[in-house]
Amino acid sequence: MSIITGNEEKVIHDATQMLAYGKVVALPTETVYGLAADMNNNCAVQEIYTVKNRPFSNPLIVHIANTSDLLKYSRYIPPFVNVLIDAFWPGPLTLVLKKSSATPEYITGGQDTVAIRMPNHSLTLKIIKSLGTPIVAPSANKYTGVSPTRPEHVINEFNGRISVVDGGVCENGIESTIIDATRNDSFKILRPGTITLEEIQSALKDKGEIITYNLNRDNEIHVPGNYLKHYSPKKRLITFSNYKQLIENFKNIFVIHYSDLLVLDDDISCKIGKDPDSFAKDFYHFLRLGDNSKSNIIAIEEPPKNYGWAAIWDRLNKAKSDKL
Ligand code: TXA
Ligand code: MG
Repeated sequence: MSIITGNEEKVIHDATQMLAYGKVVALPTETVYGLAADMNNNCAVQEIYTVKNRPFSNPLIVHIANTSDLLKYSRYIPPFVNVLIDAFWPGPLTLVLKKSSATPEYITGGQDTVAIRMPNHSLTLKIIKSLGTPIVAPSANKYTGVSPTRPEHVINEFNGRISVVDGGVCENGIESTIIDATRNDSFKILRPGTITLEEIQSALKDKGEIITYNLNRDNEIHVPGNYLKHYSPKKRLITFSNYKQLIENFKNIFVIHYSDLLVLDDDISCKIGKDPDSFAKDFYHFLRLGDNSKSNIIAIEEPPKNYGWAAIWDRLNKAKSDKL
């Protein structure tokens, strides 16, 4: 059994001890479960890359519990960033900043920037505080696979070889919004997430910050995790908007839908929420159920393309094999 058991005090103590001894431990966050290690322990960080089978060129997010660590691990913080921290931390907003010399290069994939966030999960914040140093934590799944949102996902992903702190079902269900915050006058969304562009703009406007949202920048920041097919289940995943066409073309389908549909006997259906937040909460869980089912294909009903769905569409476009 790889769940770290006991009362909260014991769980915090045991997880902290493991991290202090250089072990990799899966921790809950409000977005997805992370595969955590002490950011200053090179061997432990190497172990994350090995366990995930992730290339070393793909950098890791630093998770902090005290805002003062931002000043330690980044060398410049544009003034508007303080507005975003006040509005969204602890929470699912990751800031990419210029790194300081205290940030080891083995976590940044050789880049001159560092990604930092303060997760909104009390257990994990207590563990980071008790360790006394920030952790790095990529999503606790094999490279390019589906992120875990429940402790049992992590156990299945690594066949019980990784210790997990049980924080229940993740509140948000998809990864944090990542922004390039290296400049004074503009920011750029590098990965959409729970916090939308509109929410960021409105928080800045409220405080009188005139910051542009710049799509085309000359010195692009590289987000290696964005390049590939990603967040993908093992089975073929298709999106559909016309259900009749879907069942005419395929048999034995694992159907994830939000509309009312008459599901055929041979198929399996999972009803997902109609709004972006409830859709996001079950999305990865249902992809995993689809992978573990007897169906040979997973089909997911296309959500709307309007406000609030950017993060879901980003994940769907990277995860899907094709579209019907
Ligand atoms: O919600 C989250 O952000 C979760 C939880 C566990 O906190 N973490 C997460 O980490 O999604 P990961 O490693 O699965 O995805 C981080 C993404 C990758 O695409 C990586 O390439 C990018 O962030 N990244 C990390 N550091 C970066 C940097 N300095 N510059 C640009 N991209 C960076
Ligand atoms: Mg990931």
